[in-house]
Amino acid sequence: METVVSGIRSTGKLHLGNYFGAIRNFIKMQHEHNCYFFIADYHSLTTHPTPGDLHGNVKRVLAEYLATGIDPDVATVYVQSDLPEIAELYLLLNMNAYVGELERTTSFKDKIRQHPENVNAGLLTYPVLMAADIIIHHAAKVPVGKDQEQNLEMARKFAKRFNHMYQTEYFTEPHPYNFGEALVKIPGLDGSGKMGKSEGNGIYLSDTEKEIKKKVMRAVTDAGPTAPNSTPPEAITNLFTLMNVVSTPDTLDHFKNAYADCSIRYGDMKKQLAEDINIFVAPIRERIEDLYSNDEYLRKVAKNGADKARESAARTVKEVRELIGFRHF
Ligand code: TRP
Repeated sequence: METVVSGIRSTGKLHLGNYFGAIRNFIKMQHEHNCYFFIADYHSLTTHPTPGDLHGNVKRVLAEYLATGIDPDVATVYVQSDLPEIAELYLLLNMNAYVGELERTTSFKDKIRQHPENVNAGLLTYPVLMAADIIIHHAAKVPVGKDQEQNLEMARKFAKRFNHMYQTEYFTEPHPYNFGEALVKIPGLDGSGKMGKSEGNGIYLSDTEKEIKKKVMRAVTDAGPTAPNSTPPEAITNLFTLMNVVSTPDTLDHFKNAYADCSIRYGDMKKQLAEDINIFVAPIRERIEDLYSNDEYLRKVAKNGADKARESAARTVKEVRELIGFRHF
């Protein structure tokens, strides 16, 4: 049993790619480890949401994660800004984070390229806040995608640096949580690349049956196989990949065989795929709607989660203050 921390971006609706890429593994992991899942709303301030957007996004993400099966009675689910202890640890870690190393991170360089008009200090110190999120609970493992590996490396660096600086072994060095085989990359519907909110090629867990159908029917295909047993091009492989996660093995086999003997009709395949996606999404969509309108329940979940998370966060900050040399008179 290890302590695992995972931060969830508070922007954007969840899509099938999020579900099969990460959430499905979180649902399993929560029973095997001591998991902390939090919504990273302090981090979202780096892009200046308005107060309405900020609250609405956090609420939606919380409802959506709970709807997928993240269980607040099993894992510790909380909102980052409910724990000012994280902000305090961030401040303390900032004193030993160097501007040079922060400027060199690829995510910072990407951000300043994309938004040269908003290069704020929060953006620069984003990895420090992320390190605070993780080491405040002494997490050993963090499930991260490729894009977050460097941030995790920074977290290890800050933990090590603190330990070295204060001649202690206080902080645990966090390592990537490896899902191995379980990681499924879900492609987009536009013929190439993966499903992502920025690409606009995704099917959301909150999409209606009609929206799902419309998106699937519009998915990129080709003129069809011209020779028996040929290897499908990427766009077609993508449809099979989606079918593989939502349809029954029989259905998948049926269309694979039809592709192999060149009798496939993409219209039929898409219709079936849309139906099966809807069967998968429908119960989640209903729970999202229920949860989203249940403020009372969401408030309770957030409150309990913050109380639970604060136990370890407050202890860490107290001990860190002592190690640094802050003492009461
Ligand atoms: N940076 C992460 C992302 O963009 C979110 C995040 C913030 C996070 N703090 C974290 C992830 C701590 C893991 C652990 O997806």
